[in-house]
Amino acid sequence: MGWSVDDRSWERLRNAAVRVAQSAYAPYSGLRVGAAALVVDTPDAEGRTTGDEPWVVVGCNVENASYGLTLCAECGLVSALHARGGGRLTAFACVDADGRPLAPCGRCRQLLHEHGGPDLLVATADGVRRLAELLPGAFGPLDLPAPPRTPDPAAVAAGDSPPTEAAPPSGPVTP
Ligand code: THU
Repeated sequence: MGWSVDDRSWERLRNAAVRVAQSAYAPYSGLRVGAAALVVDTPDAEGRTTGDEPWVVVGCNVENASYGLTLCAECGLVSALHARGGGRLTAFACVDADGRPLAPCGRCRQLLHEHGGPDLLVATADGVRRLAELLPGAFGPLDLPAPPRTPDPAAVAAGDSPPTEAAPPSGPVTP
């Protein structure tokens, strides 16, 4: 399903991204990156989505002397999303410390796809784009085989009963 995001929400995201960019650890590239996204469908303690107000999750880049271990701002954002209960990303902005929009790198487009799906709206220098435009033909959760089936220990002890499906703690975002 597509989402429309009003100008105030985009402004809120951009401001949050600029603010968190100040916390970036970027001594090697000197590029402080801030990312912010609107989140919906955060499940409650019973795993039900409550339809609560969308909330904003943020992340900044954290570099490493090994260079290759650098964490993009989007990595921090996705980690914070799950640390705060999970949910689905519906709108996303990534900026430098001066608020200039930055394109998410290829790896991070894949990360965003996992948690926002193809309908995630992304603020780019050329306007708002659906993630499907930025990552066409994406590989996603639906391209994987069914989750592995594990035997139920009680059933094994009893000598019969079919295996049960191993369910992930919170399901992937499906397109
Ligand atoms: N960077 C991000 O945080 N997100 C992206 O999508 C692109 C690149 C960071 C990683 C590194 O710290 C700096 O920008 C320069 O590549």
